Amino acid sequence: MTRPHIEFIHTDKMPWSKKNLNKYLNGIKYKTLSVDILTNEMSLILKYPKGWKINNRSSLTVDEEIYVLTGSININNQELNEGCYAYIPANYTRELFFSSIGAEVLTFFSGKISYTNIKKKYIKKNLIKKISLYEEGWDKNYKGINSPEIASSGSKKKLLRTDTNNGDQTWIMGVIPSYQEKKVESHPVVQECFILNGEIEGNCGTMVKGSYFWRPRDILHGPYGTKTGCTILSRSKGGKLIVDYYDLDKPFDFNSKHNVLVPDKLLKYSRKKTRKITY
Ligand SMILES: [Fe+2]
Repeated sequence: MTRPHIEFIHTDKMPWSKKNLNKYLNGIKYKTLSVDILTNEMSLILKYPKGWKINNRSSLTVDEEIYVLTGSININNQELNEGCYAYIPANYTRELFFSSIGAEVLTFFSGKISYTNIKKKYIKKNLIKKISLYEEGWDKNYKGINSPEIASSGSKKKLLRTDTNNGDQTWIMGVIPSYQEKKVESHPVVQECFILNGEIEGNCGTMVKGSYFWRPRDILHGPYGTKTGCTILSRSKGGKLIVDYYDLDKPFDFNSKHNVLVPDKLLKYSRKKTRKITY
């Protein structure tokens, strides 16, 4: 995996690109969160305009993983609105693909975006048409995600996908208010996160709704804590999430320093956010 360490950026500060990402996605604005320079795997937010549609039966030749942030899109009569997740494998034919009301969608492509009108076989076991956090709620147990400290806090998770070939996972974490970690940790896999709601602070500063990071494997991080609680969409790349814990030098406190690690061109999107609260 050849993406730079980005920890972290505030995606609401990024401008929408007006160039077309691809002819297939004509008219869709986007924000690029990170890109693999060798494989062209990409993480983006796509902004579908109201009334957007594809007119011809077609399919992408890469996998597309999506989480709807706002609005709604429709793929083959499957309406995907806020809080919905889907995994669309390469070559899955889209007889219908449109957005009536517009949408902002967190989108992950598994390679260079291209499309075809030729019908080919897709990998059926990889298709996830819809999982809705809002309709289905959290998982009843903590099976599938190896994160014992956060699990023991009473926080919740919803496992969305585990890749049957390489173990890569996607899940949503619902961290309880006042959570404070008693360990620092690292993972032998990449972790990619997008804050859906709330805020959480750690060794790089305070992440809020719309903050994003891509963290390479084996980077020590934490401890984390949150006063408000938060909801986080997470992906592991390079296998299932495994957590290695280490003891703290000093206990967590809610005065984290802003200490981001991002490529120079993204620095302007990663400045500390100031909150003015008066009582
Ligand atoms: Fe972690």
